[in-house]
Amino acid sequence: MHITQAKGSSPSKRSKRMGTTKPYSPIKDVHVQVCLNHNVESKASSGLEQKALLAGFPRFSSHEIDTSTEFLGKRLELPVLISPLTGGGRQSERINRNLAIAAKELGIGMAVGSQKPMLEGKARPDSYLVRKHGRSIPLLANLGLAHVRRGREYILKAIEWIEADGIILYVNPLQEMLQQGGEADYTGILESLDDMLEGFPYSRSK
Ligand SMILES: Cc1cc2nc3c(=O)[nH]c(=O)nc-3n(C[C@H](O)[C@H](O)[C@H](O)COP(=O)(O)O)c2cc1C
Repeated sequence: MHITQAKGSSPSKRSKRMGTTKPYSPIKDVHVQVCLNHNVESKASSGLEQKALLAGFPRFSSHEIDTSTEFLGKRLELPVLISPLTGGGRQSERINRNLAIAAKELGIGMAVGSQKPMLEGKARPDSYLVRKHGRSIPLLANLGLAHVRRGREYILKAIEWIEADGIILYVNPLQEMLQQGGEADYTGILESLDDMLEGFPYSRSK
């Protein structure tokens, strides 16, 4: 697409004649010219134009909605979980304590960050021990999928040490492969997971 200056005298000549300085921005004229004279309509589709605009419009009172549910045998006021973030760092104890207190107050669930440092003696367990701040919350332990190779006892230890109701296994092979000291070997990992889950004393959810 080749854009040419709009016909007629140039804006700067006109400005001088009218004794003004730049009353209009020439590029704004070009924008209008482009829209008038070129095919600028996008053919890309978001798919949303095929939906009836009012299909999602509520026809009920929000007071009628019960957002509470049960998760891992515990009551949640909202089906929301604070995802695994930290553990084992200098500030982790304060952060996890505050998250646990917030989870209790809001009636939501919480997971601790990767327990690898704790299980390998590279960090004190204190920052993961948040059960005392929220007896009623669904609390989840956290390790990587690659850690299932370390055996059932390793995984169970992560759960039981912090009195969790279950465990989240994070699936981040690229990050692990790139980070120093990360897990590099994923051969046969899904088979190891299947083996570990055979008779695992916690129910499985996907
Ligand atoms: C600072 C930080 C630390 C994290 N640490 C962990 C972790 O230890 N274990 C884990 O499973 N995910 C960890 N995550 C990933 C988060 O739990 C979450 O999956 C990710 O931030 C994407 O979630 P979002 O789309 O809700 O932001 C971490 C994320 C951040 C930003």
